[in-house]
Amino acid sequence: MRASTICVIGGGYVGIPTAAILSLRGHQVVLAENNELRLAALQQGNIPIFEPGLEALVEQAITAGTLSFSKSAAEAVKDCEYVFLCVPTPQDDDGSADLSYVMEAVHEIRAQLKPGCVVVNKSTVPVGTALLVEREISRADVKVASNPEFLREGSAVEDSLKPDRIVMGSNDTHTAKMVAELFANPGSATVITDCVTAESIKYAANAFLATKISFINEAAAFCDAVGADMRDLVLGMGFDRRIGFEVMQPGPGWGGSCFPKDTRALVKIGEDHGYDFSLVRGAIESNKNQFQRVVDKIEALVGDLKGVTVAIWGLTFKANTDDRRSSPAIPVVATLLARGALVRAYDPTVQPSDESSDLAGITISGSAEEAATGAEVLVILTEWTEFRWMNLSNIAPLMGKTNIVDTRNMLDPEAAKRDGFTYLGMGRS
Ligand code: UDX
Repeated sequence: MRASTICVIGGGYVGIPTAAILSLRGHQVVLAENNELRLAALQQGNIPIFEPGLEALVEQAITAGTLSFSKSAAEAVKDCEYVFLCVPTPQDDDGSADLSYVMEAVHEIRAQLKPGCVVVNKSTVPVGTALLVEREISRADVKVASNPEFLREGSAVEDSLKPDRIVMGSNDTHTAKMVAELFANPGSATVITDCVTAESIKYAANAFLATKISFINEAAAFCDAVGADMRDLVLGMGFDRRIGFEVMQPGPGWGGSCFPKDTRALVKIGEDHGYDFSLVRGAIESNKNQFQRVVDKIEALVGDLKGVTVAIWGLTFKANTDDRRSSPAIPVVATLLARGALVRAYDPTVQPSDESSDLAGITISGSAEEAATGAEVLVILTEWTEFRWMNLSNIAPLMGKTNIVDTRNMLDPEAAKRDGFTYLGMGRS
């Protein structure tokens, strides 16, 4: 394949893996990042986000000489045949995606774009954004494509190297095929479509997965109600290949930077176009109820929470990330604090000295044992591997009362009971 010149704008969760993967495929890539601290870190091969394997990948690309960095997107795009927009699209108060970073970036580069180049949108953007970008660029010699990104935090490298599929939208099929070719990977399916469909696929995929988790969380609550066993229920369902075992794990609710934002945006986009996506609205509602179900389980074990010390294991929205954006831990802990509980938490990515505003009111411990000491109930909120292998017989003597709420169904209930714990999982006890 011919090596192309590529600019990736935005050094975040999507931009860094995209830039690294494209440069390791032999393309000449410049990553533009306007935050000076981030840029300086990247230039030294330090990754400003917690993502297993990403630092090594970036180092490899820098050493190969195909990855460089720039503060100015306008400068960086000048000689590039492809420009990838990987800037954040935070959520506005009404649930819609805030496009200001995307439009600012487009405005900054539009006059500098090389004739014939393709601007590819990788940020998650509302349906119709490609058209807005095209209008803002307003140049007949520049094409626009939409390339949604499906990587998961914590496995971004694996997901970027071997994506299940590459979705490429453009209103010009030849352009879509050309951009898809940059990522071509044996084993990955390619879906070539128009921009509106590509943009819709991203929202539909995330909303489907979030709805699937909400279903499984409700199935766990159903198991609790009727006395069925959630683990066996998932086995009995998952061996049906149409259902499968992926994204079938009950938990404290889905969180992170994508599912909450994208489900709300999908509902909002539907509303704006006269469609009520009631199923996804229901999944969002169900997810809120899930946070409350966790609190209910804690109360079922200890009663009134006033003055009760609760130990929390895990604050991030899932394991293998340091990301607490829309983490279920935050509303769960907020309710515990509001009801008068004393909350002591341990998470391998959070330092006791951390003074972030989302941690206000929580005492951060330096170890899982320290968090559990004196607590009347231990609540596992994130599925960090170290919790799975924790020797509970060493934890029990530290605690005031030996109660566990295992929202990730990580522990063996029988083993926990043998160690003296009263155990509540999700759909199993
Ligand atoms: C998600 C999509 O998976 C990815 O394709 C998209 O590009 C970005 O959004 P991510 O936010 O990194 O990725 O997290 P993911 O691993 O999908 O988990 C999302 C949430 O669902 C987490 O809170 C996780 O704990 C929860 N989850 C996931 C479950 O509760 N049960 C499961 O079986 C799977």
